[in-house]
Amino acid sequence: MYKNISLLPYNTFGIDVKADWLAEIESTEQLLTILDDNQSVKKLILGAGSNVLFLSDFKGIILLNQIKGKEVISETDEDILLKINAGEDWHELVMWAVENNYGGIENLALIPGKVGTAPIQNIGAYGVEIKNVIEEVHTLELTTGLPKIFHKNDCDFGYRYSIFKKPENKGRYFITAIHLKLSKKNHQLYTHYGAIRQILNNKNILKPQLKDIAQTIVQIRRSKLPDPKKIGNAGSFFKNPFVNSDKLEELLNRYPNIPYYTTHKKNIYKIPAGWLIEQAGWKGKRFGQVGVHHKQALVLVNFGKAKGIDIQNLANNIIDDISQKFGITLHPEVNYIQ
Ligand code: FAD
Ligand code: EPU
Repeated sequence: MYKNISLLPYNTFGIDVKADWLAEIESTEQLLTILDDNQSVKKLILGAGSNVLFLSDFKGIILLNQIKGKEVISETDEDILLKINAGEDWHELVMWAVENNYGGIENLALIPGKVGTAPIQNIGAYGVEIKNVIEEVHTLELTTGLPKIFHKNDCDFGYRYSIFKKPENKGRYFITAIHLKLSKKNHQLYTHYGAIRQILNNKNILKPQLKDIAQTIVQIRRSKLPDPKKIGNAGSFFKNPFVNSDKLEELLNRYPNIPYYTTHKKNIYKIPAGWLIEQAGWKGKRFGQVGVHHKQALVLVNFGKAKGIDIQNLANNIIDDISQKFGITLHPEVNYIQ
């Protein structure tokens, strides 16, 4: 265990706070020992720190998820069932799957973070969510030390949501592994979103392989999202809001060009928050050490020395302004940590 340690290298926002203790968790046995020895101490499970905003020093133990390993559980001619331990890097897993011609997660290339965090907000990008391929989530309850397996149907997956986001479950379960079912042939490719098809056409790729899709996604993401190694950020700061058909009609009357997406729920539409924030004039604006990214208005950035509270203040100002201008409430996707 490290004592009184800076969390600067452990969060992609690059916020320099300290934790009383940090333990690198490499196995469930080790996790159980640490839980036993520190029953009354406050705890935070941390993956790659790419979806957190530290608002203050952390008075407790950071449980840094580094449980590595992957194994094949079963396979047929059509698909393969894998157990991936939670501490594996998500993007490395995607590239490994693509190399082995296992399909289903190629659109989720270059999403930062650990495998164990991926089900929590049901990571999604370019028309695909992890819920499409997840079979089970294996956990350990921190207070009791008991293992619990959540079948995919128990997880209540939705847009940037799962059962693990419920207030009563926050920080309750340490996700130790997941089971994924990936295709071995007749892959279902998702090329309809954004510029994927156009880029493939430009490259003259008419029958894309998994690696072509992954490479295209990487190219698109690099062209608009800031690299956390260069500038602190946590990806989209806010979730895209939902509106009903009355609200959409009102918005369309005022802004005929407003982009919107249908959802699987009747009369419910999703509006890109990045568009609202850009329209409201925030895109590319800098306020001291914090700002709104110049290529993607949904991404708040730390220019170097920001405190968590500076980012939170900017986020609150944006929430107020969007509420006043559009009558829509934005909700942070990033997890605030006190
Ligand atoms: P962390 O930030 O370490 O943790 C996030 C939360 O989960 C915390 O509350 C933490 O306590 C909890 N937690 C972490 N590990 C565990 C565990 N093992 N068990 C239980 N609780 C745990 N997300 C998308 O969905 N789509 C995108 O396209 C996308 N693009 C991004 C681009 C950039 C540049 C960045 C910086 C982020 C992006 N994200 C995206 C957000 C982020 O990558 C995902 O939310 C990712 O799953 C977070 O993983 P992490 O390990 O870094 O989580
Ligand atoms: N837009 C603007 N201005 C901007 C940004 C976006 O007008 O500055 C509008 C454009 O109309 C654009 C549309 O918003 O066509 C959608 O933009 P984009 O494709 O970049 O996606 P997004 O809705 O901003 C979501 C996810 C991303 C994910 C991408 C691709 C959320 C909160 N964000 O962003 O996830 O990578 O789609 O699927 O759902 C993350 O969660 O951290 C994240 C990066």
